[in-house]
Amino acid sequence: MFRRFYDVKFGVRREELEFPAGMGVEEARVVMAGTHADVRAEGLGIVEDGVWLGVAWLDWWLVGNTDTVDVELAVVPEYRRRGVATKLLEVAVGRAKDAGRRIVSGTNMAGDPETGESPGTAFARARGFVLKHAELHQVVELPVENLAAQPVDGYEIVQWREHTPDEWMPQFVELLSGMSEDVPTGDRTDEPVRWTPELVRDAEARRVAQGRFTYTTAAVHTASGELAAYTQMGGTPETPERLNQYDTYVRRTHRGKRLGIAVKLPNLAALQAGVARPAVLHTWNAPENTPMIAVNNKIGFRPVAQRTAWEREL
Ligand SMILES: CC(C)(COP(=O)(O)OP(=O)(O)OC[C@H]1O[C@@H](n2cnc3c(N)ncnc32)[C@H](O)[C@@H]1OP(=O)(O)O)[C@@H](O)C(=O)NCCC(=O)NCCS
Repeated sequence: MFRRFYDVKFGVRREELEFPAGMGVEEARVVMAGTHADVRAEGLGIVEDGVWLGVAWLDWWLVGNTDTVDVELAVVPEYRRRGVATKLLEVAVGRAKDAGRRIVSGTNMAGDPETGESPGTAFARARGFVLKHAELHQVVELPVENLAAQPVDGYEIVQWREHTPDEWMPQFVELLSGMSEDVPTGDRTDEPVRWTPELVRDAEARRVAQGRFTYTTAAVHTASGELAAYTQMGGTPETPERLNQYDTYVRRTHRGKRLGIAVKLPNLAALQAGVARPAVLHTWNAPENTPMIAVNNKIGFRPVAQRTAWEREL
């Protein structure tokens, strides 16, 4: 059942996106079947005579946006414009109201890189959603040439893989919480997550259960021992051609010193040395986040789509 659900969800992404992004089936199964500290996932499907017409993936946030349910809708192309997504949305809205949630949110992945428009944005507007934010989807094909380090005076680079070393945990949760507060989210309803060591360990355990690998590079201010910046990238052997750039964050008091690129370059070098090729690294950033996009452009990323965030108040 889950396999068929997933095939509709990912089949639609493959159809819509030149560079499809998202979880592999096993990664997705762990999220939906497991118990997690930050999210509970639920699936809906509309099946007619054994044929799957469309699905919805619901994320019920347990930390941060606890007033929101996030919904991803996917309808098989030949069954579109028959009200399938409308019906799925109605069920999701009913459950959200029953659970006392205030907002239904959704992300449209397939927007044109210039205009952001797609069938998903037309549907969202037609069903009363309001556009809250846009993010540029950029990709770079590996291998990237010239990843020579660009160190910054007064800072040392440290790297780790799946598990945050205990010695960095107290400061790493501060940086994760800072990331959650500072990342540009436009008009989205966004309650920052206050990270704790327990949440970090839970997220790490889930990634391992999903078969995912993670590369982290951080910069330490040598004089004070302060963790000043970090970046994370990763993927899974299940979908070796698809790698993701996760967070990149520089602590407020250490900005303006080129620490963003200083951590990204060695992280990408480590990732590139460790993965199969060919592969594509994906990243999403708010267009107003000019420093981050400038760093990405230097590395060789190019724009392929615009994803948009939508909300409907209940
Ligand atoms: C967006 C999507 C889920 C819509 O599914 P659907 O079952 O065709 O949607 P519905 O039939 O319920 O459409 C309801 C209304 O939305 C609007 N709409 C939907 N698709 C549209 C399109 N391609 N162009 C213009 N308007 C559209 C129309 O107003 C439609 O009503 P109408 O057919 O009476 O004119 C489907 O196109 C899809 O899977 N797209 C790719 C994935 C995606 O973008 N998901 C949404 C982000 S979570």
